[in-house]
Amino acid sequence: MNREQPGGAQRREAPKTSTILLILLLVVITALTLYFLFVFLRKPPKPVPPIAVKLCLTCHTELKAKLKLDYAHLIFKRGECIVCHIPHNKIKKVKLRAARKELCLGCHQSIAQKLNKLYTHLPVTKGFCIDCHEQHASSHRYILKESPQKICTACHPIFHDLKLAQVHPPYGKGYCVDCHDAHGSDHKVMLFMDQNPLCFMCHPTVAPDILKPVQHPPYFNGECTACHHPHASNVEPLLLAAEPDVCYFCHDDIAEEVQRPSHHPIGVTIVCHDCHSPHASYFSNLTLASGNDLCYLCHPNIKRNYVTCAHNFVSWRREEGFCTNCHMAHGSDFEPLLLYESITLCKSCHPLGPHRWSDHPYGDGYIDPRRETRLTCASSCHDPHGTGKVAMVRWYPDELCLICHPWRELP
Ligand code: HEC
Ligand code: HEC
Ligand code: HEC
Ligand code: HEC
Ligand code: HEC
Ligand code: HEC
Ligand code: HEC
Ligand code: HEC
Ligand code: HEC
Ligand code: HEC
Ligand code: HEC
Ligand code: HEC
Ligand code: HEC
Ligand code: HEC
Repeated sequence: MNREQPGGAQRREAPKTSTILLILLLVVITALTLYFLFVFLRKPPKPVPPIAVKLCLTCHTELKAKLKLDYAHLIFKRGECIVCHIPHNKIKKVKLRAARKELCLGCHQSIAQKLNKLYTHLPVTKGFCIDCHEQHASSHRYILKESPQKICTACHPIFHDLKLAQVHPPYGKGYCVDCHDAHGSDHKVMLFMDQNPLCFMCHPTVAPDILKPVQHPPYFNGECTACHHPHASNVEPLLLAAEPDVCYFCHDDIAEEVQRPSHHPIGVTIVCHDCHSPHASYFSNLTLASGNDLCYLCHPNIKRNYVTCAHNFVSWRREEGFCTNCHMAHGSDFEPLLLYESITLCKSCHPLGPHRWSDHPYGDGYIDPRRETRLTCASSCHDPHGTGKVAMVRWYPDELCLICHPWRELP
């Protein structure tokens, strides 16, 4: 009886208290959930009003000195510590609002975009920004941990290269970021741009070659490093290997020519670039001079009679009067650098053998007594480069016979 009323009253009052408690609990949980959602889903963290930097710095006094450094992270300087840090109570270890990578990239969209480039830097894709940058402040540009000249060599040691005979100055001095983007780019090995414009910036003397009519494909296509080492090398000028080997990387057919029995002393006393420009030229085949002028550079004595002789006006096999009508440029099976065996060569243009004028014997089985070699058209009688005498004979006809046939012996 007594129990009914209080009981009834209890039945009516008890739900009230528990409902209020439940609602309160729900409100608290919702608030907490919202708070944590707010905290954790907030990517990127939006700038919040600066809290008194003094608060943090009252205890973290060691950071005060950092504020005075030349390059302080703007938000650090502003004292917005809690943009990055979750304020701590008793758990006194680094607590960031987001994983480091997301934290930095959230605000630095330009760097985030670099991660989509074709070539990216491993420490950046891994989010190790603070391998290179100070999070708070530093005395180096871009808040770098080290001066820009030293930051790269910590992980990419260069002391070995510095011992080589020629070191590319921007490399030796550590200006890696003159050529490489520290974060990423669309060019191989994260270069800022294609090699052509990149290298031309500092090599204006090489740049005009790009306008010449005959281009060497690797130069034209900006594959400078097909021949040059961008950092350091033992072979000047910064070549990957000495000539001619550096050319043989791509021209093994020429290597084969140079190994033939009769050949220009390439790799011994002359190199490819004595005749060819490795970059570009005004003349076909990238030669340094046009046509025979190239040969005259080193064989000036031939020029004297050749320019007036009949062979200088031949326009038949190749171009007019070219030495290469008869000679190979690099190497040949036939001395001296001839296209064919000597007599076959003459006959290829003068087919009316045997000799028209005297039926004089020549060829196999006949020894030129003067030279003690096989008797050929050019061994002692004719000089195919001209002699200034009739029919390109080496001596006046009367003397010519007597050189090999002293007058007594003539039949
Ligand atoms: C009452 C003093 C005090 C205040 C105020 C204070 N901290 Fe700390 N904090 C400490 C102590 C003590 C440690 C532990 C230091 C240690 O382990 O070297 C610490 C540790 C830290 C660490 C971890 C350091 C580490 O080496 O792992 C961070 C980050 C940090 N505090 C940030 C802050 C930020 C941001 C503020 C301001 C919102 C702040 N603190 C305010 C006393 C304080
Ligand atoms: C740009 C984001 C950012 C801001 C702003 C920032 N910090 Fe930090 N802080 C970091 C990061 C990142 C670390 C290093 C975390 C690690 O080593 O894993 C760090 C480390 C720390 C440490 C421990 C190591 C050290 O360098 O001494 C302390 C203490 C600290 N911060 C305090 C502060 C205080 C105080 C402020 C405000 C004046 C502040 N931070 C502002 C990102 C920030
Ligand atoms: C809350 C946004 C925010 C976060 C998070 C943040 N930064 Fe910054 N950072 C800035 C702002 C703002 C500047 C100043 C930009 C300016 O001066 O152009 C800046 C400047 C920099 C600079 C110097 C740029 C310059 O041109 O000198 C570097 C480097 C840098 N931040 C690296 C980082 C790294 C590393 C992290 C992660 C540890 C980080 N930032 C996190 C906002 C942020
Ligand atoms: C390997 C070292 C290295 C790493 C790792 C690195 N940086 Fe840098 N960062 C540099 C260097 C060097 C520069 C200066 C570039 C220059 O001089 O052209 C720079 C410049 C910057 C700049 C200012 C110039 C600009 O391009 O906007 C920002 C911002 C920056 N870094 C943010 C970041 C962030 C964010 C991360 C991490 C995701 C990061 N960096 C990782 C080396 C690094
Ligand atoms: C924290 C260590 C670290 C620092 C500092 C560092 N790098 Fe790297 N770098 C690496 C790692 C790791 C790789 C990846 C190596 C690999 O893939 O074999 C790499 C690769 C490279 C590559 C080759 C990329 C490719 O596509 O093959 C280049 C170029 C490069 N770094 C340039 C730089 C430059 C320039 C700097 C200075 C701004 C620098 N690095 C600073 C660690 C670093
Ligand atoms: C003159 C421009 C230039 C400078 C300065 C330069 N590099 Fe390079 N680097 C290149 C080029 C071009 C390549 C690509 C070579 C190739 O195609 O094989 C390269 C390749 C690389 C590679 C990847 C291939 C390798 O050799 O492992 C790394 C790592 C590298 N550079 C680091 C550096 C560092 C570190 C510095 C500064 C000490 C530096 N570079 C300075 C132009 C440069
Ligand atoms: C930041 C400026 C700079 C850039 C970019 C640069 N160089 Fe250089 N380079 C120099 C300097 C300085 C020298 C030494 C002065 C000289 O001999 O002309 C040099 C010397 C050279 C030499 C040796 C020249 C000689 O006469 O011995 C070669 C070859 C060379 N660079 C090739 C390249 C190539 C290939 C590139 C592009 C991948 C390039 N350079 C990019 C500054 C640069
Ligand atoms: C096919 C190989 C090859 C390619 C590709 C090549 N070079 Fe060269 N380069 C050479 C050789 C060989 C020399 C030496 C020529 C000489 O001493 O006359 C040279 C000389 C140089 C020199 C120093 C001599 C001078 O004229 O100042 C520079 C600088 C140079 N090259 C830059 C470049 C640049 C930049 C590129 C790419 C746009 C490039 N080279 C592409 C082979 C090459
Ligand atoms: C990376 C490969 C590569 C290297 C290294 C290279 N070349 Fe070439 N070169 C080519 C290509 C591709 C062509 C055009 C295809 C052809 O005509 O055979 C060419 C053509 C030539 C030509 C003929 C040009 C014309 O107009 O017909 C000459 C001459 C030549 N190269 C000389 C050289 C010399 C000298 C070197 C060494 C300093 C060299 N090359 C190194 C790739 C290379
Ligand atoms: C004595 C001068 C001279 C030297 C040294 C020389 N060349 Fe040539 N090269 C020529 C001439 C002349 C031609 C044109 C040939 C022709 O018209 O038959 C030529 C043509 C070429 C051609 C294009 C035609 C072909 O045969 O494919 C290439 C490639 C070439 N040279 C590469 C080289 C290389 C590589 C070297 C060094 C190993 C070299 N040259 C050394 C004079 C020379
Ligand atoms: C860079 C200098 C140079 C150029 C240019 C040059 N030569 Fe030569 N030539 C030589 C040298 C060095 C020899 C070796 C014989 C010597 O010591 O006189 C030689 C030898 C020869 C020989 C004789 C080979 C032998 O076995 O005795 C012939 C033929 C020849 N060159 C033809 C040419 C022709 C044709 C050209 C033009 C396409 C030419 N040379 C351009 C330097 C050159
Ligand atoms: C009609 C074919 C022919 C033409 C064209 C020709 N040569 Fe010759 N050249 C020869 C023959 C054949 C010999 C070998 C002569 C001998 O046995 O004495 C020779 C020998 C040489 C020699 C080595 C012997 C010497 O006289 O020093 C050189 C160098 C030479 N020629 C360079 C040239 C040059 C340079 C040109 C172009 C200006 C040229 N030749 C044009 C056929 C020719
Ligand atoms: C590429 C073709 C060609 C080759 C190879 C050639 N000649 Fe000729 N030669 C000519 C032409 C064309 C003439 C001028 C027309 C004529 O008299 O038949 C000529 C003229 C001559 C003359 C007459 C010169 C004059 O002043 O009347 C003699 C002698 C001669 N050649 C000798 C030789 C000898 C020796 C050889 C071999 C070493 C040779 N030729 C190889 C094309 C060639
Ligand atoms: C470079 C040396 C040389 C010169 C120059 C030379 N001859 Fe000969 N001559 C020979 C040789 C070798 C024989 C072959 C001798 C043998 O059969 O034993 C020969 C043979 C002859 C024969 C004999 C032919 C035969 O069928 O038996 C006559 C005739 C002859 N020469 C005339 C001349 C006349 C004329 C001249 C000048 C225009 C001349 N020779 C210039 C080397 C030469």
